[in-house]
Amino acid sequence: MIQNTGIISVSGLIITWYNTIEKRKRERNMIYYFSATGNCRHTAKRIAEAIGDRAVSIEEADYNLILEKDEVLGFVTPTYFWELPGIVRRFMSDAEITLNGDNYTFLISTYGTTPGCSAEEARKVLAENGILLDASYSIKMPDNWTVWFDLSNPEKVRMQNRKADDAIRKVIERIRKRDLGNHQKPRAPYFVKTFTDSAFESARKTSNLHLEDTCIGCGLCAKNCPVSAIEMKDSRPVWVKEQCELCFRCLHHCPKFAIQYGNGATKKHGQYVHPET
Ligand SMILES: Cc1cc2nc3c(=O)[nH]c(=O)nc-3n(C[C@H](O)[C@H](O)[C@H](O)COP(=O)(O)O)c2cc1C
Ligand code: SF4
Ligand code: SF4
Repeated sequence: MIQNTGIISVSGLIITWYNTIEKRKRERNMIYYFSATGNCRHTAKRIAEAIGDRAVSIEEADYNLILEKDEVLGFVTPTYFWELPGIVRRFMSDAEITLNGDNYTFLISTYGTTPGCSAEEARKVLAENGILLDASYSIKMPDNWTVWFDLSNPEKVRMQNRKADDAIRKVIERIRKRDLGNHQKPRAPYFVKTFTDSAFESARKTSNLHLEDTCIGCGLCAKNCPVSAIEMKDSRPVWVKEQCELCFRCLHHCPKFAIQYGNGATKKHGQYVHPET
């Protein structure tokens, strides 16, 4: 009996040690992204491939990460109302990330018109979590805020994505050189948050989203909502939270384009998902 316990505890130790090593191997060099319509996913994957990192959606990510010396930590995020999406801000503030030695940390905000003050906001949130942000970049991409922006012309959208790929290539070069500083443009000063915060609070009320009769009850919107704001009731999606992230994943991915926002402009402006999604 005593011998068995010894063997079991030694093998248990070996298994624990092996699992720890494997976990650390899996977690090395990380690019975290959030993406509702694929722009940030595409950007993160392209960069990860180019510099030998792993791109992981924050919706599936482990909140614990230990970086080795010299390893890279990246965040790729959309811009919402000139700021970070709430889901990204929460991840930056809650993740337990241990830096180790000479790491390089960067942020990329994808945007349609301006990344606003998202870099400054990320720098502050990460600093409060003990993470120094070395560099921030921005990539102009199709603007999925189709309340204002028209993405109904496939050729125009293709051109925008082609230009975005050129911009991604340039950012990859800067990441390889480990450039420092805030390279986002066109930027907005941090004090605009006073106005954008309150505008966003009102815009993200789920009562602004509505359903059209073309819905076939497939449930995709409910399944994919990052904050479970939609539930299926009698084969119809119902918004069960007063506010949501306003990511527009439900609107742009619906196979029947049955979800609209506000006064109907979204219907005219078309649906968008990045071609590599
Ligand atoms: C609610 C909302 C607000 C947005 N606000 C801005 C903004 O302030 N500035 C901007 O340039 N783009 C804005 N956008 C556009 C997105 O940041 C942009 O299309 C991004 O690339 C989408 O990334 P994704 O495809 O990975 O979700 C907004 C999009 C949404 C849905
Ligand atoms: S994804 Fe579209 S069609 Fe499917 S349940 Fe949601 S609204 Fe209806
Ligand atoms: S309800 Fe739609 S817009 Fe709101 S968080 Fe969920 S998927 Fe995004």
